[in-house]
Amino acid sequence: MAVRHFLRDDDLAPAEQAEVLDLAARVKRDRFGFRPLEGPRSVAVLFDKPSTRTRLSFAAGIAELGGHPLIMETGTSQLGRGETIADTARVLERQVAAIVWRTGGHERIEEMAAGTAVPVVNALTDAFHPCQILADLQTVQEAKGGLAGATLAYFGDGANNMAHSYLLGCATAGMHVRVGAPAALPPDPAVVARATEIAAATGGSVTVTDDPAKAAAGADVLATDTWVSMGQEGKDTSLYEPYAVDEDLLALADPEAVVLHCLPAYRGKEVAASVLDGPRSRVWDEAENRLHAQKALLVWLLESAR
Ligand code: CP
Ligand code: NVA
Repeated sequence: MAVRHFLRDDDLAPAEQAEVLDLAARVKRDRFGFRPLEGPRSVAVLFDKPSTRTRLSFAAGIAELGGHPLIMETGTSQLGRGETIADTARVLERQVAAIVWRTGGHERIEEMAAGTAVPVVNALTDAFHPCQILADLQTVQEAKGGLAGATLAYFGDGANNMAHSYLLGCATAGMHVRVGAPAALPPDPAVVARATEIAAATGGSVTVTDDPAKAAAGADVLATDTWVSMGQEGKDTSLYEPYAVDEDLLALADPEAVVLHCLPAYRGKEVAASVLDGPRSRVWDEAENRLHAQKALLVWLLESAR
């Protein structure tokens, strides 16, 4: 069977995403019971950008699966000095069971995947953050008891990796996904079109609006992300201010709504401190679930690579 990669949320079909999430729940219950990397086999985890949660959860997760995490800052590797992605891919595949990479341009990780015989996992690109969305879906499942038919509303930077991954990942799960973002800074139309196509098949729906109240109305989950993604330092964020997830916005959602944020959070900017640190917040479960969801993903990908 052809090797499977996880570069975008829609690389998993709806039934496959459900399998990975079911596995994530089992991995969480039986944390040390899954050892597909026993040997140990190594997994390369490469970073072109900073990280706390992604680095920690892959390092801990790969070790808990019986493997050895090889964490590399690409700035200290030859990749950072101009060695090609294709040559790097060929070297890595001879020595590791899988490659996890956080990089900028999405085409870079596509090139890595095209050039290697082992699974490649997107640990964030400028376009998508699909591992984060698996953890978020696991968190919603725990909080709400299910995904299909639930409404998740995301606010703020509609054109960033989190917005795009919520669109694809939630549509795949049969959820109603809403993006509340400035009209001048919308999500990538190709991603919206793909999410709409997926939602038509799963029973979900996609709404993009510049009206934050419309996006929040009755929602089961409110989500946001930093207004200034890595590499965008110095950006003007004034257009995002009406989309801050604060008490007023939360009051428009379902009374049992939960709040997600992939972290790191900037209190007083995209999210009010009282919301992030308040009773509706599930951000610490969400951060923990990076570990379980990614372990499940690796188990699933390694199984399908056999
Ligand atoms: N949420 C997330 O990916 O966090 P890090 O940037 O710390 O890895
Ligand atoms: N959108 C953010 C996510 C950080 C986890 C960024 O790309 O910096």
